Amino acid sequence: MTPSESRRRPFIAGNWKMYKGPAEADALAEALKRTLTGQAQVDVAVAPPFLSIPTVVARLRHSGVHVAGQNLHPEPSGAFTGEISGEMLRQVGVTYCIVGHSERRALFGDTDSFVEKKVHACLRAGLLPILCVGETLDEREAGQADAVVSRQLAAALGKLSSDQLPSVTIAYEPVWAIGTGRVATPAQAQEMHATIRGWLAERYPAFVPRGMRILYGGSVKGSNAAGLLSQPDIDGALVGGASLVAEDFLAIVAAAK
Ligand code: PGA
Repeated sequence: MTPSESRRRPFIAGNWKMYKGPAEADALAEALKRTLTGQAQVDVAVAPPFLSIPTVVARLRHSGVHVAGQNLHPEPSGAFTGEISGEMLRQVGVTYCIVGHSERRALFGDTDSFVEKKVHACLRAGLLPILCVGETLDEREAGQADAVVSRQLAAALGKLSSDQLPSVTIAYEPVWAIGTGRVATPAQAQEMHATIRGWLAERYPAFVPRGMRILYGGSVKGSNAAGLLSQPDIDGALVGGASLVAEDFLAIVAAAK
């Protein structure tokens, strides 16, 4: 059996970015809870802005839907004005945390080595990291997509053991597809996902590439989700814009079943 062949449990995560203050977040969580409570085929998580997290955690209690952070600071506490630690996220009931999103890399100076620190901080705090990797359009057109993604993987995951890696979810998000409506084709996405799984297979025992989930992100919608999710190495989706409307997000979860 090749690593691509075993079916991993699908995982759909919604990244609400800087949308949905507590009241709106509560309403969206309530709408998701009505449909998703009790479904067991797909792992689902939502990542609200920090301020809305306690409300969403309370609303989604006993629903089976996980709550994720969008970012964290690597230190557990300290004089870091404006930052939130993994330990704090854990204390309020967060289970996953997005790390290295391209918006943070491009707009907030998250370097490869800072992203690595954040991955380790997640694991120390008992959070499951969702590590984002992906190339820009210029990098893709210059034929550097594989090299860029491999560099990001090596930097973020290189020091983790085979036992730690299965706690990590990888999200391949080509920067040119994020928020642009320009989704990667299923074939383009599958090709990079296979490259990522191959990268893992070259370095770790077979259970690592076979078990780790690799999500696709970038303009995923109800209308294109099924084509992407039917690919053998695409185990789910990290969804931005379409996660802000309950029925749009629920259509993507339904496509993953
Ligand atoms: P998008 O965002 O679905 O709006 O393209 C994806 C992401 O940023 O994770």
